[in-house]
Amino acid sequence: MNGIREKVDNCVRQIREKTDFVPEVALILGSGLGALADEIEVAGAVDYSDIDGFPVSTVAGHRGRFVFGYIGDVPVVIMQGRVHYYEGYDMSDVVLPTRVMKSLGAEILFLTNAAGGISSVLEPGDLMMLTDQISSFVPSPLIGPNVGEWGTRFPSMDTIYDRELRRIIRDTAERCNIPLKEGVYVQTTGPNYESPAEVRMYAMMGAHAVGMSTAVEAIAARHMGMRVCGISCVTNMAGGSDGEPLSHEEVSAVADRTAPLFKKLVTETIGQFQANKNK
Ligand code: HPA
Repeated sequence: MNGIREKVDNCVRQIREKTDFVPEVALILGSGLGALADEIEVAGAVDYSDIDGFPVSTVAGHRGRFVFGYIGDVPVVIMQGRVHYYEGYDMSDVVLPTRVMKSLGAEILFLTNAAGGISSVLEPGDLMMLTDQISSFVPSPLIGPNVGEWGTRFPSMDTIYDRELRRIIRDTAERCNIPLKEGVYVQTTGPNYESPAEVRMYAMMGAHAVGMSTAVEAIAARHMGMRVCGISCVTNMAGGSDGEPLSHEEVSAVADRTAPLFKKLVTETIGQFQANKNK
């Protein structure tokens, strides 16, 4: 048996000893958004540290647990804190939680993150819906033996961010009067921020925002046939601006400031997933 599959199955088995909750939507909360999980109708929670073999985040401000509950009528599993490649984990461990959530029943993955703005139409505090991504600067999470039950060896990435989910996000933002931009996200390994030359290179390649997560999770999810959508909170201009060095504190402060609007867009959108299903 494949080691990665064994690891995922083992985590699922341990979670199933604690809850029989079956989520439809998996939501990964990025910087600043963690509190969203405290505000939903909670049916249960499992700390990552209580799951043997599960990667636990080392980043300050990233809480480590799955929260199970309802947003509107939609059963969701929420990751309150994710692990990043720069923490030193194998890429297969970085996407293990995504695979676990799919194995628990989730068919939709909603990704959120903090990102640096590259495009001049973005400014700190903006929300940007992901339309596509560039993952070429990080290893593919699918490297290694393929698990045929999960997906095909060479999965297409022609439409990573689901068109229908994008339409719902766009409509929801408009209905709630939440300004929403759209663009392409590029993932770097981090943990260092980008140099000005790197930011210029990513701009030339067609990226609008840059971050240290998300793209590999989207690939693992698409490999398993999940429908994927994502929104970035633009916390800063990539590479810094006005000659001021960029700091994690600045990123966190803007993420916290934008959180109420971000939260509203995410929860209202997930509520619409259900409304659309019943149509
Ligand atoms: N670069 C990479 N990741 C980030 C940034 C950035 O400027 N801001 C928030 N996450």
